[in-house]
Amino acid sequence: MRKFFLGFITAASVVVLAGFLCVRFGLMDPRADIPVNSLERRIAMPSLDAAVDRRAPEVQNPLQPTDANLIAGMKTYQTNCAICHGDIHHPHGMLADSLHPRAPQFVEDAPDMPENQNFYIIQHGIRLSGMPAWKQSLSEQEMWQVTTFLSHMEKLAPKVSGAWQAASGGSSDENKSPDASKMDMKDKKSMNMPMK
Ligand code: HEC
Repeated sequence: MRKFFLGFITAASVVVLAGFLCVRFGLMDPRADIPVNSLERRIAMPSLDAAVDRRAPEVQNPLQPTDANLIAGMKTYQTNCAICHGDIHHPHGMLADSLHPRAPQFVEDAPDMPENQNFYIIQHGIRLSGMPAWKQSLSEQEMWQVTTFLSHMEKLAPKVSGAWQAASGGSSDENKSPDASKMDMKDKKSMNMPMK
């Protein structure tokens, strides 16, 4: 029994040491644009869900999903989040395949986590991923508005989705916001890409 125990400890130490040496001496591929493998997917995703589930305080969203709050959330989203998470006009965001782990594409696959968990992630970001912590740059109200927008993204009233179309450069005609002109530049860039 003692022999078995010693053998087990030795084997475990060898595995840990080999792992450390691989990481320390550069055998890990540092590129962000390689495919996310199924082991990473199977371990990282459930681990993130469990960690957020454990930590996110059980707070209630203080806002009502009024058109005004959803439009304000949409604007915050369009300015700060769409490049990674996609928008109504670019469901597959510009950086969708350029991050490791990949950023979820919310228009292709609507966010289904509880609002307190999305709010917690927006506030604090996700370590070792491209997801920034927004607490320093967005107000509490803006973070709740964008949280509300995420949970209603699939079922927006025509007024809100129309405003989103315009802000994302989808329909060029009606009341373009200043944000929309920025998105236009992005548009042109991405339209140029296939021609290169
Ligand atoms: C630079 C790219 C980038 C930007 C900008 C960005 N995110 Fe993220 N976000 C990510 C990545 C990458 C992940 C996935 C991290 C992971 O799986 O470990 C993520 C994850 C999330 C999640 C968790 C989704 C889930 O189902 O697990 C939410 C919610 C989220 N982001 C909201 C936002 C909001 C809201 C904004 C804007 C205020 C934003 N993100 C801006 C890259 C970004």
